[in-house]
Amino acid sequence: MTPRHFLNTQDWSRPDLDALLESAARFKRTPLGDQLRGRSIALVFFNPSMRTRTSFELGAFQLGGHAVVLQPGKDAWPIEFDTGVVMDGEAEEHIAEVARVLGRYADLIGVRAFPKFTDWSVDREDRVLKAFAKYSPVPVINMETITHPCQELAHAMALQEHFGTTDLRGRKYVLTWTYHPKPLNTAVANSALTIATRMGMDVTLLCPTPEYVLDERYMGWARDNVAAHGGSLSVSHDIDSAYAGADVVYAKSWGAIPYFGNWEAEKAIRDRYAHFIVDERKMALTNNAAFSHCLPLRRNVKATDAVMDSPSCIAVEEAENRLHVQKAVMAALAS
Ligand code: CP
Repeated sequence: MTPRHFLNTQDWSRPDLDALLESAARFKRTPLGDQLRGRSIALVFFNPSMRTRTSFELGAFQLGGHAVVLQPGKDAWPIEFDTGVVMDGEAEEHIAEVARVLGRYADLIGVRAFPKFTDWSVDREDRVLKAFAKYSPVPVINMETITHPCQELAHAMALQEHFGTTDLRGRKYVLTWTYHPKPLNTAVANSALTIATRMGMDVTLLCPTPEYVLDERYMGWARDNVAAHGGSLSVSHDIDSAYAGADVVYAKSWGAIPYFGNWEAEKAIRDRYAHFIVDERKMALTNNAAFSHCLPLRRNVKATDAVMDSPSCIAVEEAENRLHVQKAVMAALAS
C-alpha cells in the first residue's frame, strides 16, 4: 500500500517510486494540469531555501493549486515540539495545534527542518518531521530534514535522462565527500546513498576518514537495498581508486557525525581535506562520468569552475527535475 506521507523513499516500494518518476517525466513533457485544482499546500520552512521553495510554489501553481509559505519564528509563531512541557519559553504554540490547524486549511503540508547540529542522537530522531506526520490530518512531504527524498527523485530522474534508460544497474556510482568551510547536513548524502543503492548501482562512498562514514541507519538501508536490488556498496578513503572508471560522481559535503556539537575539533580534521574538491584531474580518471550536486554549491571549494561548466555536469538538470518530481509527489498524495 502506498504510504500516506512522503517522508523517505525507503518507505515507498520500488514500483511506487518508479510510478512517481514516470509521472514526473509526463509533467516534464506537459507541465500544466489540474491535479491540484482547488487544492493547497502549506510549506513550512525552518531553514532557508531557493530551489525547494520555488519549485514547490510554482509546481502547485502549474497544477491549479496554491502554496502558502510559513517560516515559524520569522513570519509565523515559534513552535514547541516536546510533549508535556510548560511552554514558558520562546514557543507560542504547540505542534499538536499547528499541524491540525494547517491540515484544516491545506490538503498537503511540506516541512523543511534541518538538524540543530548540537547532538546527533537527538537530530537523528527527525522529531520535527515525525511530529508533523503524527498530528497532521493530511499528507506530509519531507522538504529536507535528515534526508532529502525529493532531491533523490530529481537525482534519479537526471541520471535516467543522462544515460537514456530507467535501468541504472551496473553503473559505478561514487558519492564523494567534498570540502566546505562549515559542517553541513548529512541529509543529501544519506539520500544519495539510499537512492543509488535502490537503483541497483555499484556504489562507493568516498570520504576522508572513517569518521565521515554516514549514520548506521543509512548505511543499513544501503546494505538492505543491495541485498534486495543487487549492485554493491563499498567505503573508500582513496580518491584515485574511487574515481577510477566511475559512471557517476555525486558530490556533497557534510560534518562528521562523531563530532556533532564539537565542531572546533571537527574543523581541525576537515580543513586537512580541501583537496577532496571535484576537479578535472579526478574526473579524467572516470568513465566520462556524469557529475552532479544538489546545489547550492560553492564553486572552487566543492567543485571547480571547469567541472561545473563541463558538459558532464547535470546539476542544473537535476535542479529542474525538482519541479517535475514534486508535482508528481503532490499529485499522488492529493489524489
Ligand atoms: N537542493 C536544495 O534543496 O536546494 P535549496 O536548499 O535551495 O532548496
